[in-house]
Amino acid sequence: MDAQLETQRLTLGPFRESDLDRLTALANNINIARMVSEMPHPYTRKDAADWIASHDAGRAAGTDFPFAIRLKGEGLVGAIGLHKKGGAVFDLGYWIGEPYWGRGLASEAAAAVMDWARTGLGVREITACYFEDNPASGRVLEKCGFARTGKAGSCQSLGRGCPASSIAMVWRA
Ligand SMILES: CC(C)(COP(=O)(O)OP(=O)(O)OC[C@H]1O[C@@H](n2cnc3c(N)ncnc32)[C@H](O)[C@@H]1OP(=O)(O)O)[C@@H](O)C(=O)NCCC(=O)NCCS
Repeated sequence: MDAQLETQRLTLGPFRESDLDRLTALANNINIARMVSEMPHPYTRKDAADWIASHDAGRAAGTDFPFAIRLKGEGLVGAIGLHKKGGAVFDLGYWIGEPYWGRGLASEAAAAVMDWARTGLGVREITACYFEDNPASGRVLEKCGFARTGKAGSCQSLGRGCPASSIAMVWRA
């Protein structure tokens, strides 16, 4: 399923080879890598190419639904997606390029993906996790209807090179 979503300021759709330079430039940022689990740092053009090349297989398997977040009139500003980590439940992950923080873009993208997951994919439960030192992400999730599970935990981050305290969240239809 190759969904295209649209919000007031954004379009969300598949990554393209033409995104490689901009994706590499935005994602090669330790302030992003340390807040997510699986983004290598430094982030190279090859990392970007390998990641984009994996998308079709993930979509076909029904385990990964990644979206490029494009700001209308500007282009790529980030990424968001649903990913099954081996279990039956999708996990929501996202990042916005640092020059675009604080403009409500993550909240706008996350609301659109959650709506699509509910109505298009028929998903009834989604998990997410954010690091304790990343309250902005906690706020994005809260605004999308996620609530704390109450389980304290620890998540790996390639950018940090070690696990860090995290807060588990869940959304249920
Ligand atoms: C977290 C991230 C996605 C937020 O993106 P964004 O587009 O700036 O987010 P938004 O503007 O939609 O919303 C941020 C919310 O957090 C709030 N916020 C920002 N800094 C905060 C802080 N230090 N403490 C509490 N809330 C904070 C904002 O006020 C806003 O809430 P509001 O709409 O109620 O005012 C972005 O900073 C990012 O990509 N960070 C690195 C990667 C990452 O953290 N990914 C998520 C992994 S779980």
